[in-house]
Amino acid sequence: MKIALGVTGGVAAYKAAELVRRLQQEKLDVQAVMTRAAQEFITPLTFAALTGQKVITEIFSAENAAPANVESAIEHIAVAQRIDLLLVAPATADSLAKFAQGLAGDFLSTLYLATKAPVVVAPAMNVNMWEHAATQENLATLRARGVHVVAPDEGYLACGMVGAGRLASTDAIVLKVRDVLGLRHDLDGQTVLITAGPTCEDIDPVRFLTNRSSGKMGYALAEAAQRRGARVILVSGPTDLKIPEGADWVPVRTTEQMHQAVRERAAEANIVVMAAAVSDYRPAATHEQKMKRDDGGLTLTLEPTPDILAELGREKGQRVVVGFAAETNNVAENARGKLARKSADMIVANDVTQEGAGFDTDTNIVTMYLPDAPEISLPKMNKFDVANRIFDQALSIRKNSK
Ligand code: C5P
Repeated sequence: MKIALGVTGGVAAYKAAELVRRLQQEKLDVQAVMTRAAQEFITPLTFAALTGQKVITEIFSAENAAPANVESAIEHIAVAQRIDLLLVAPATADSLAKFAQGLAGDFLSTLYLATKAPVVVAPAMNVNMWEHAATQENLATLRARGVHVVAPDEGYLACGMVGAGRLASTDAIVLKVRDVLGLRHDLDGQTVLITAGPTCEDIDPVRFLTNRSSGKMGYALAEAAQRRGARVILVSGPTDLKIPEGADWVPVRTTEQMHQAVRERAAEANIVVMAAAVSDYRPAATHEQKMKRDDGGLTLTLEPTPDILAELGREKGQRVVVGFAAETNNVAENARGKLARKSADMIVANDVTQEGAGFDTDTNIVTMYLPDAPEISLPKMNKFDVANRIFDQALSIRKNSK
C-alpha cells in the first residue's frame, strides 16, 4: 500500500523522519511531500534518503513548469489517485486551516483536495494555537468531513510552555494509520457474533411495530471485526445496507427469529456484540387478516419479548458479551443498570437525542460502561472508529479475564 506523508513546518518535523521508518516496517510505501516551511526545519534530502523516492516540495517546480512536462505539472492528481492514505504529520495550524478552507496554494493542500483516500492528521503546535477557537473549529470541520485526527500529547513544548500541542507518539500515529487502512490483525482466529438493525413485530399482515434503527452501527462493527481478522456472524434485522462480503449473514425479522439465530450460533463466538435495537414488546396476538377500521379506539395488547442479551449474559462462559443502550435520559444510570441486569461485560450507551449520535447517522457519541471500572466517554466519531474502540476494549477484557 502507498501512503503520502505530508510534512509541514513545525519543530516536530524532524520526528516525521522516524515516522517514515515505522511506516515502512508496516510494509507501506511512503511518498514524502514537504511544504516550504517544513524545509526550514529539515531537508528534503533526509526524506529522499529514507524513502528512496524524490520528495515533492513544490507545485510548480522548475521541471514541472516546463511545457513539455505536462505529466509532472499535474502530479498532484496522479499522486492523489495513487495513494491509499494521506498522513500529515506534523500538521501545523496553518495546514489545518488551509484544509478546512479548501485553499490549494501549495502541493500538499492541493493533494488534500484532490485525493479520495482517507486522511489522517497529527497536529503539533503551541498550546495556545492548539486551543484557539480558530484551530478547534477547523478541526471540527475536518472531523465532520471524515478526517482522522491523532490528538497531540500534553507536555513540554518547544516554545517553553506546558500543555497540549506535542506531536502524538509515533506509536499512536502508526496505530491510527493501521486502523484506518484496516491493517490490524488482533482478531485473527476469533469469531464475533453481531446483532444489528431493528426487529419487526407483526400486528397483522400489513402492519408491524419497529424502531428507527438503520443497522449502521452493527454493520460498522462487522466491517471492523472482519478487517481485524475475525470471522463474523451478522444476525441482522431488515436494513437497506450492503451485506458485508465474507460475513456469515443471517437475516431475521422478528425478535424471536433473532433470539433463535443467536441461540444457535452463540456457541461459535468468542465475542458477542448486541447492537440490534430489539423490540422489547410484541403484539400478544398477530391478526391473520388485515385489521379493519372501527369507530371506537383500538387497544393493542403487547407482551414482552425474550431478552436475548440477558439470556446470553447468564450463559456466557468465556465469551465477552457487549450490549448497547440507546437512551433518551439518565444515560449513566440506565447503562449501569443494564450492565448488572444483563450480566454483560460492557454496555455501550448513547444518548439518541444528541445530534450526531444514535439512529441513522454515520457518527455516534458513546460511553462505554464496564463493571467495577470508570466509564470511558468517546467524542463524536464515525461508527467505524467507534466499532474499533469497542473491539479494543473487548480484547482488553479478554486479556484480563485470562
Ligand atoms: O433493555 P434494552 O432493550 O435497552 O437493552 C439494550 C440491549 O439489550 C441491546 O444490546 C439489545 O440488543 C439487547 N436486547 C436484547 N433483547 C431484547 C431487548 C434488548 O438482546 N429483547
